[in-house]
Amino acid sequence: MNITSEFLDKHNVSGPRYTSYPPANFFHTQFTTENYIEQLIASNNQQPENISIYIHIPFCPQRCHFCGCNTEIGQKKSFVERYVDTIKLEIRNVCEHLDLKNRKVTQIHWGGGTPNAIAMKFIADIMNLIKEKFILDNNAEIAIECSPAYLEFEHIDQLAAMGFNRMSLGIQDFREDVLKVVNRQGPRHPVKDVVDYLRKKGFSGINLDFIYGLPLQTVESLKETIQKAIEIKPDRIVTFSYAHVPWVKEEQLKLEKIGLPSPKEKMDMLINNIKQLQEAGYESIGIDHFAHPDDQLAIAYKNKKLHRNFQGYCTLETTGQVYGFGASSITQLWGAYAQNIKSAALYMDAIEKTGFAIERGFTLNVNQQIVRSVINSIMCNGVLIFKEIAAQFNMTVDEIKKIVNFDPNKLIDFEKEGIISISDDGIIISELGHKIARNIAMAFDPDLKQGESIYSKTV
Ligand SMILES: C[S@@+](CC[C@H](N)C(=O)[O-])C[C@H]1O[C@@H](n2cnc3c(N)ncnc32)[C@H](O)[C@@H]1O
Ligand code: SF4
Repeated sequence: MNITSEFLDKHNVSGPRYTSYPPANFFHTQFTTENYIEQLIASNNQQPENISIYIHIPFCPQRCHFCGCNTEIGQKKSFVERYVDTIKLEIRNVCEHLDLKNRKVTQIHWGGGTPNAIAMKFIADIMNLIKEKFILDNNAEIAIECSPAYLEFEHIDQLAAMGFNRMSLGIQDFREDVLKVVNRQGPRHPVKDVVDYLRKKGFSGINLDFIYGLPLQTVESLKETIQKAIEIKPDRIVTFSYAHVPWVKEEQLKLEKIGLPSPKEKMDMLINNIKQLQEAGYESIGIDHFAHPDDQLAIAYKNKKLHRNFQGYCTLETTGQVYGFGASSITQLWGAYAQNIKSAALYMDAIEKTGFAIERGFTLNVNQQIVRSVINSIMCNGVLIFKEIAAQFNMTVDEIKKIVNFDPNKLIDFEKEGIISISDDGIIISELGHKIARNIAMAFDPDLKQGESIYSKTV
């Protein structure tokens, strides 16, 4: 695969990221708690096999100036304790509406913020309740996002004892000067030792997160960081493009003052990440994810069985409808999305007063569910086979084509470029074409108004 800056530049237009369809900016506040409860009940019969659980911990000891996550700094122990109790209350309330006898949990994901910034006993407390309420599949993937700045080896022992078997470590960059200007503490222990210890303790799918496009980073300096990552041999590596949105995250202005790499430098960093990691034997998935060929993600990608939710890529085999708990968490069901209030204090007030804290959401009609399946297939697996979508929805291929406004003319330029092949059966996207899957997916999105600038650039 020969990826060039000309190719990426040519396809760098505004478009949704499609972490969900419809995208989160379509969620609205007319979606009520009653709608949420209806959807929880309906979810027991819609692709009910697997349950995924998401727990959001919105706390960090200090704020990295680049941070785009929903987190709060310096909350007191009593506040965190009340938050943990509130999550437990929310779990109990949601469980009132779920079929807990016939459905198994196949995925649990803890994200944030920094989940390992709270005491391990709080994590254990919530995990115990989950185990009491739900039936966990023997092979459930239980994952946690951790900052290595606060991670001790005994925490890994404690997490393993609770059943955790996946970990993602936020590295961002190995260079101290880069970490210093973004106000981030470096790892407490050498990352290689942490990764080796995780493996010894039975963790797999171990991931390292990096960001490219931060102040002081150059193409050469990032190359060194990625080289270090390769030597550590994690199962997965993610290289996020720095999302600069100072109108939402004011703190990011501090980075603007220091100076950010130019768009051209950023593009070169991305191209180098892809080349360097592929040369080191990692499979490139989407634009910024990389996995060792033996890793479950790489295997699922090869077998066209990859799926995606707000927590990132996962395998279709273990994915279920996602029930989210905690401030700002998003529940992702077959029929709807529902997001909780973002502020931890307001979230706790709402749960304590009314039992729920839904702020906005979206109910999908059948046509939107079909478009979602089509976009997921393109984004995750680089193929679209109409027959498969038709079987999923008990419809004919022609009906599906009509619903997604299938028009080969909209895709003709991609075909001329040699990055997709189109037939009556569907489309197949090349490895290079998969890097701009968002652009291809946009051709199937009926809600997309051309030239809309509310979205970030696709590359
Ligand atoms: C919740 S954090 C991971 C755990 C922990 N808080 C940490 O930072 O180590 C999720 C990831 O989001 C990424 N991230 C945060 N802000 C970002 C931004 N503005 N642009 C791109 N990626 C970002 C970082 O790579 C980070 O590791
Ligand atoms: S530690 Fe993670 S969540 Fe916390 S401020 Fe930094 S990037 Fe954001």
